[in-house]
Amino acid sequence: MLNFELYNPTNLVFGKGQIEKLGELVPKGAKILLAYGGGSIFKNGIHEQVMNNLKGHEVVEFSGIEANPHFETLMKAVAVVKEQKIDFILAVGGGSVIDGVKFISAAVNFEGNPIDILQKRILIKENAVPFGTVLTLPATGSEMNSGAVVTIESTKEKLAFGGSAMFPQFSICDPTVIESLPKRQLQNGVVDAYTHVMEQYLTYPHEGYLQDRIAEGILQTLIEVGPKVVENPKDYALASNFMWSCTMALNGLIQKGVPSDWATHMIGHELTAMYGIDHARTLAVIAPSLYKVMFETKKGKLAQYGKRIFHLEGTEDEIANEAINKTVEFFHKMGMDTKLSDYTKEYDDTADFIVNRFDERGWKGLGERQNITLDKVKAIVEMSY
Ligand code: NZQ
Ligand code: ZN
Repeated sequence: MLNFELYNPTNLVFGKGQIEKLGELVPKGAKILLAYGGGSIFKNGIHEQVMNNLKGHEVVEFSGIEANPHFETLMKAVAVVKEQKIDFILAVGGGSVIDGVKFISAAVNFEGNPIDILQKRILIKENAVPFGTVLTLPATGSEMNSGAVVTIESTKEKLAFGGSAMFPQFSICDPTVIESLPKRQLQNGVVDAYTHVMEQYLTYPHEGYLQDRIAEGILQTLIEVGPKVVENPKDYALASNFMWSCTMALNGLIQKGVPSDWATHMIGHELTAMYGIDHARTLAVIAPSLYKVMFETKKGKLAQYGKRIFHLEGTEDEIANEAINKTVEFFHKMGMDTKLSDYTKEYDDTADFIVNRFDERGWKGLGERQNITLDKVKAIVEMSY
């Protein structure tokens, strides 16, 4: 097993009715910026619950953080935090609002141009404005990790950043919030979390036996509850297992001591930036092609995955190939289209565009062995058309 450090200071407050603890979780006497998205929290009553539990606190609201949050929007919130002398930020929403708040928190006291946080991927280790979250959409794991993804609208770049100061102080995760989610977002949540596990699991056989078993447990749980929770989001057993699986998929635990890939995400982010395709759907488009193009280096782990998750039999190559088919089948079951041409007809230059961008950024070797070179990226994207 590889050496590792496990640091995760987020106080995860999980379960029905836990929003009632909000008043105790925010710092006493803090002036709070309540940040949210396009208004779903008004329709489902979460805004009211939050305000009821923040009585006695001075609250300033910032609305309109869009899905795939924009740097330009977030900089407006940065100005509000400075003008209003905000002490604490509360993100109420899904991954986009939480990621947006991470950026705001990092940018307020950043010395220099905050766009560098994204374009130069600066690690944020200190001077962040403290923040907490009320999660309304299980998917990204952002509620318990220190990463975030922000889109620069003016350049159409979707870039990740993070650092040890980017963990939420607390996250309230009440599974009943999923009752108001549209089917499409529930489907997205399951596939995003599934792919998070795959990015950290589907590499090459290694000595992280426990990490593998935990990862497989999350995959099996998502396969078990995913299709059902989309049909019945009011079922608390399904909702709670779905939400906890999403958090566990990307709170750092399963990536400790093992190699990880993340190339599916890197390529997928480009598709969101170019075409506005939902994050999870870009992953369903790219992952199968990536597993095929990288078959020779991934087949050992693909075979383990095929045996343990789908109980497949045969030679290593047969099992590994069939495991890719089973993954695509699961994505289809979760309502995903798995070809880029299902989302846009203007895909002819996509591969070249992405390869050029990666080249400019110096991303010449992605994946667990840094062997997803630019020619491989081109092949992966072209295979996904
Ligand atoms: O804006 P509102 O009105 O709130 O509506 C949102 C939004 O339109 C709606 N929604 C959220 N909770 C709801 C609800 N509607 C009804 N009832 C509720 N309870 O759902 C829509 C999508 O929300 P969004 O936050 O964009 O979805 P998600 O949580 O999937 O987040 C996606 C973003 O997270 C990034 C993605 O790239 C993308 O930008 N990721 C962040 C990661 C991280 N920080 O670790 C890792 C991921 O791989 C991912 O890249
Ligand atoms: Zn993701």
